[in-house]
Amino acid sequence: MKQFDIADKRLAPEGRKKIEWASREMGVLATIEREFIRAKPLKGVRLAACLHVTSETGRLMQVLKAGGASVTLCASNPLSTKDDVAASLVLHDKVAVFARHGANRDMYYRHLKGALAHKPHITMDDGADLLTLLHTEYQKLIPSMYGSTEETTTGVIRLRALAADNKLLLPVIAVNDAQTKHFFDNRYGTGQSTMDGLMRATNVLIAGKKIVVAGYGWCGKGVAMRARGLGAHVVVTEVNPVRALEAAMDGFEVARMIDVAPQADIVVTVTGNRDVVDKGVLLKLKDQCIVLNTGHFDVEIDVASLKKLARRTRQVREHVTAYELKSKKTVYLIAEGRLANLAAAEGHPSAVMDMSFAGQALAARYLVEQSGSLEKQVHTLPSELDERIASLKLLSMNLRHDALTARQQQYLNSWNEGT
Ligand code: NAI
Repeated sequence: MKQFDIADKRLAPEGRKKIEWASREMGVLATIEREFIRAKPLKGVRLAACLHVTSETGRLMQVLKAGGASVTLCASNPLSTKDDVAASLVLHDKVAVFARHGANRDMYYRHLKGALAHKPHITMDDGADLLTLLHTEYQKLIPSMYGSTEETTTGVIRLRALAADNKLLLPVIAVNDAQTKHFFDNRYGTGQSTMDGLMRATNVLIAGKKIVVAGYGWCGKGVAMRARGLGAHVVVTEVNPVRALEAAMDGFEVARMIDVAPQADIVVTVTGNRDVVDKGVLLKLKDQCIVLNTGHFDVEIDVASLKKLARRTRQVREHVTAYELKSKKTVYLIAEGRLANLAAAEGHPSAVMDMSFAGQALAARYLVEQSGSLEKQVHTLPSELDERIASLKLLSMNLRHDALTARQQQYLNSWNEGT
């Protein structure tokens, strides 16, 4: 088995500059790194991470190493890998990276197995792919593990399904469910970076366009908010009536996908669900419609049907494929229907990844501290850690917040002080 597998070592200097730039806005991780250097809480721990190989992930790897861990990294998506960052981590930080931009499915899984060959005590996932392998081909590794962590909504949904079937074999920390993760990363990170991916890929003017956002969860709220900020007329589609109502009261038009498809200039899916833009919707889309996905897996847009409906396919820009349908309409698909913010742009800005990855670093330390005492369930990050991340973030932004007085604390805890 190879020690690492990257595209080109010569890209390392560029990758190092990118990681340094990302660090500027990652003050929480910098504080955690200082603590890790002093206390070495991960000494002797082998850690395998399957995350988007971006500058911010590079910074997290450095912090985990500072805590004493020996670290392997593979990609959680073949199109999000930044080859220069991968090279820098191998050359400058002694992280065993298995990631190449554009890897095919075989290589993708070879890379995951390369990371698991490290015999990790902790795995860190974005989409539960390592954990799924641990529960199938690699069960023998589980007895010597502290547990796993999970970064994203879709991964957490898969893990909860596994736990509900009583088949989860180790404790997992759902970092996504920390407030300092999904309130900020999913909403402000996905909101900004999805619009960034759309604009870099197409350079179209957003103002005046009708943009349909499918899914009004944490990510969808961010995408809808930022699209509106750029002057789009935003229509939300939802399957959850409460969220549809929330979207309506936030001032968005709410409609069914099938009804709004003929008017949409741009459709963004962000539901974590499959076939949101299915064959029926594809047939209804307006001519020249741009379709993109920013949910975790590339199943939200039915690309297989799109291919079947097309009489001609052309790559018209780096991340844009034009599908000329037999009906004479053209549909433009961004980044093959994969996460557009990571494939066509650089993913979330480092200021939000600072909090998500602080959650990951503290979750790894927590798993080691709790060694053996956590149930084989999906756990959330303890609220003290969540609040500590928020406090550190405020501090790094030079902002102060109020604290409860003893009298206020007592008042809030009492039931007998009324009218
Ligand atoms: P969420 O659970 O808060 O929201 C998803 C929403 O989609 C829910 O309100 C649900 O009712 C709705 N939905 C489900 N099926 C639908 C359908 N057929 N049509 C319309 N709406 C539908 O989840 P969250 O946190 O917003 O995440 C959404 C996806 O984005 C997940 O796959 C998650 O892993 C991914 N994600 C992507 C990021 C990125 O960088 N692009 C960052 C964070 C999460």
